[in-house]
Amino acid sequence: MAITLNSGFEMPIVGLGVWRMEGKDIRNLLINAVKIGYRHFDCAADYQNEREVGEALTEVFQSGLVKREDIFITTKLWNSDHGHVVEACKNSLRKLCLDYLDLYLVHFPIATRHTGIGTTSSAIGEDGILDIDTTVSLETTWHAMEDLVSMGLVRSIGISNYDIFLTRDCLAYSKVKPAVNQIETHPYFQRESLVKFCHKHGICVTAHTPLGGAVANTEWFGSVSCLDDSVLKGIAEKYKKTVGQIVLRWGIQRNTVVIPKTSKLERLRQNLKVFDFELAKEDMELIKSLDRNYRTNQPAKFWGVDLYA
Ligand SMILES: NC(=O)c1ccc[n+]([C@@H]2O[C@H](COP(=O)([O-])OP(=O)(O)OC[C@H]3O[C@@H](n4cnc5c(N)ncnc54)[C@H](OP(=O)(O)O)[C@@H]3O)[C@@H](O)[C@H]2O)c1
Repeated sequence: MAITLNSGFEMPIVGLGVWRMEGKDIRNLLINAVKIGYRHFDCAADYQNEREVGEALTEVFQSGLVKREDIFITTKLWNSDHGHVVEACKNSLRKLCLDYLDLYLVHFPIATRHTGIGTTSSAIGEDGILDIDTTVSLETTWHAMEDLVSMGLVRSIGISNYDIFLTRDCLAYSKVKPAVNQIETHPYFQRESLVKFCHKHGICVTAHTPLGGAVANTEWFGSVSCLDDSVLKGIAEKYKKTVGQIVLRWGIQRNTVVIPKTSKLERLRQNLKVFDFELAKEDMELIKSLDRNYRTNQPAKFWGVDLYA
């Protein structure tokens, strides 16, 4: 199942996110994922594993398992490369062993001090907060992203972690409209107005952290996992599915693309097996009532500055 982006290209509705995937595990995970049926991979320069993803993709293509055009690859521009968009994109392409990207996203709406292409550091100033680059505006960054499309390096461009107002601004200054806004959203953080705003303006919403980060975000950020929610557990029992599958299915039924990460083979299978059932309207409503406006991923932990404040 795929969604047609405003660029005219199709993006599979379920993808595999590769953040916090160990480089050594990537080869087997990616090859297994392709065998299971994954056709969409969500990467980023910041995940420090583009090289391993590229090696695995090369193997997948050479083995004849799938062709390049059958796979949708997203990667992201890191904050410290806003002033160096073309070089950063070419660096990611080189590591991923690709000659074009399906989707390139501005990872966060913030430019930080440049520390060398692909270094993806988050330089902290003497004051203990992120060293923000005040010379590069988001508009300048976006126009450089647009150039990537005319250069044929990227098929679609988009944004990530943009709120309504930043998205509105991007729509106002863009010649090429953002195809995607990738944001944290899950049952505890539904962001209905942002999702509706994006859809209204033809921007596809990709749900990052679609499982609420589960155990990983509990470990990293101390967050509560929606996978432990008793109401969701009840719905899972009713449909004879796992809570993860219910949460992903809910994401799909609200027309968001979901990119769960897992390093476990059984869960790779499980997370893609969400097209053989449908949540009834009353259960969609029940899940809607669980919203807590609860963000689990808090980059402020590393940056000393709250991007969302
Ligand atoms: N644009 C951004 O700023 C941004 C930010 C965050 C994430 N992302 C993207 O979104 C992707 C997903 O986000 P995420 O990894 O933070 O969170 P997530 O996918 O919501 O949750 C991942 C966690 O859930 C566990 N898990 C996976 N499938 C499960 C299942 N069926 N049942 C129970 N637990 C399950 C994983 O553990 P195991 O691996 O042990 O299965 C891991 O602990 C990332 O990989 C990345 O590509 C983007």
